[in-house]
Amino acid sequence: MHLFSPAKINLYLDILHKRTDGFHELVTLMHALNFGDDLELTFNDSGKIILKSDHPSLPLDSTNLIWKAIDLYYRLSGVPFKGIEVFIDKKIPIAAGLGGGSSNAVTVLRALDQHHGNIMGIEKLEVLASLLGSDTVFFLDPGTWVCGGRGEKRIKKFKSQEWHFVLIFPPFGCSTPKVYSQYILNLTNRPPENSLQTLESTLATGKVKELGALVYNSLQDAAFKSYPELWTLALEMEQKTREKVFLSGSGSTLFMVFDRREKALTMKERLESDFEKNAYAVAQTWMVQ
Ligand code: C5P
Repeated sequence: MHLFSPAKINLYLDILHKRTDGFHELVTLMHALNFGDDLELTFNDSGKIILKSDHPSLPLDSTNLIWKAIDLYYRLSGVPFKGIEVFIDKKIPIAAGLGGGSSNAVTVLRALDQHHGNIMGIEKLEVLASLLGSDTVFFLDPGTWVCGGRGEKRIKKFKSQEWHFVLIFPPFGCSTPKVYSQYILNLTNRPPENSLQTLESTLATGKVKELGALVYNSLQDAAFKSYPELWTLALEMEQKTREKVFLSGSGSTLFMVFDRREKALTMKERLESDFEKNAYAVAQTWMVQ
């Protein structure tokens, strides 16, 4: 069974406060992309969870979120486990702020429940997904969502224009706990008043300049402080291209936003010749049918 596992970017991420459980309460606007991983899931009689990939550094043992998702699903659903193999064709970089691991796990969860006649249903799947991470629940129905809590509460879904993004993958990942811990030390910035509401209505228009002025990420300063080389890269790219560069989640992916695919492709080619050490992809809004 072939499964597409989309990446997400955060177009808005505002941290409200640190909670007593150590997580940060936030409001975020997550946006699914047509860029992602391809998974091939096979049911067999091996009695084992077998993960395979040709990615050189992806963990394929019980620390992989797909492994945890399969284990959790069969333990909590009561469905007898016979054996599953998943081949992960990994295109989403690891520790990149694109939700790759969460997306893989929840894409598999959804497929398992569909295969077993939806016996868990959406509410139980939400609970299962939230046990696997903070930005997981979003991937039960990827699209454009405002999420709250530690990221796991889906608050509102809405339609968006078909935006085009150039994703910039620096040659290193960012540790999410490290970036969040720097944020506590540097709690200085707040988003402009009503920017989330304005962003929601702007997403439905095609006006890229307005969208660019509203994209906001509370974690950006913390990520740049934790990874100065990320800051240098973002500044250099902004200076050379005169385009705004944004950070997704806790990094390390940077992105630019365009209204037309041709513009995004031209920018990707330009970046490839000017900053050859880094990798790039052109992605577009995941359009919900
Ligand atoms: O839930 P997830 O595994 O994505 O979180 C990784 C780490 O990021 C957490 O252990 C925590 O340090 C930090 N985090 C946080 N507040 C959030 C989400 C993540 O502090 N809302």
